[in-house]
Amino acid sequence: MKLGWIGTGRMGYAMAERLAKGGCDLAVWNRTKAKADPLAKYGAKVVNQLEELSTKDILFVMVSTYEDVKEVIGKALAAGGNKGKPKLVVECSSISLEGSAELRGILSQKNVQYLAAPVSGNAKVIKAGKLTFVVSGPKAAYDMARPYLDMMGTGSSYVGEGELARIAKICHNVMLGVVIQNLCEITILAQKAGMPRHAFLDFLNKSVMGSMFTRYKTPALVNLEFNVTFTPKLLRKDLDLGLDAGREFEVPMPLTSLMRDLLQQMIGHGFTEQDFAALLLMQAKASGIELKSENQEVGDGLSS
Ligand SMILES: NC(=O)c1ccc[n+]([C@@H]2O[C@H](COP(=O)([O-])OP(=O)(O)OC[C@H]3O[C@@H](n4cnc5c(N)ncnc54)[C@H](OP(=O)(O)O)[C@@H]3O)[C@@H](O)[C@H]2O)c1
Repeated sequence: MKLGWIGTGRMGYAMAERLAKGGCDLAVWNRTKAKADPLAKYGAKVVNQLEELSTKDILFVMVSTYEDVKEVIGKALAAGGNKGKPKLVVECSSISLEGSAELRGILSQKNVQYLAAPVSGNAKVIKAGKLTFVVSGPKAAYDMARPYLDMMGTGSSYVGEGELARIAKICHNVMLGVVIQNLCEITILAQKAGMPRHAFLDFLNKSVMGSMFTRYKTPALVNLEFNVTFTPKLLRKDLDLGLDAGREFEVPMPLTSLMRDLLQQMIGHGFTEQDFAALLLMQAKASGIELKSENQEVGDGLSS
């Protein structure tokens, strides 16, 4: 199939790279074209105009918020005009239920099928081949997209019709927020009580409580490497989406409310360009200790 790809930020680039390296017929557009250009060396065609993607069979989208999604899809479809339209749009950004439903309406008026397909994993996870998707929409559309989703990671979970995948992804990211805060709290507690962070995390990672997430965040927590994988603002957006969903379905989410405000505090202190794991620094400050890198060799938690 002919594939189109919109958005080559941290996530979109790494995902499109896997399709290009897999030999797909892929055309890519990014607002800042220079970020997409390196994909040409893997055989992708980097286009200047969105309209060049409007007639692809499957159009993948990975941008930031629903407003951005609406803007790029609107432009791509308007640009297609009489020339045609995609058979299927696969929207992978983390957006709200309401936005996703509105998009489904817009696309169905134009007879374009639509899958909500948000992801779990950051750019390093994608490079390691461990990205996963949660997908909802028509089953036949899922069957059409599935081989390409498989190429980008370890597979996808189909959860049903409509916007269900959005709820699954929001739940997932609420857990991400709550877990990283807890991980920072206990790591600082262990350190203040007298043990090195790397020793404590070595134990935790080998225990039943350890996970791919705790393992791949360990280099950041031990060596204070906060190169951004996911910004505090994007995480705050997802916690806000979780709290909105909680209100809609009348589900109390006390931990999420608290976590949302801790992130707000972090952003208020100017932590906007670091990784969200820099919550560790906030926790250290609140505990009256100054952190230093332990300069320890710890695994990246992703290589098997
Ligand atoms: N990073 C993670 O770990 C992670 C994990 C799972 C899901 N997500 C979700 O995946 C999405 C992308 O995240 P990311 O980390 O890749 O973000 P990012 O690095 O900031 O990339 C954002 C992308 O969206 C494009 N974009 C934004 N607004 C646009 C607009 N109005 N018109 C055209 N293009 C626009 C940007 O284009 P430019 O290059 O021109 O700025 C860029 O390609 C978000 O919804 C995020 O919540 C992220």
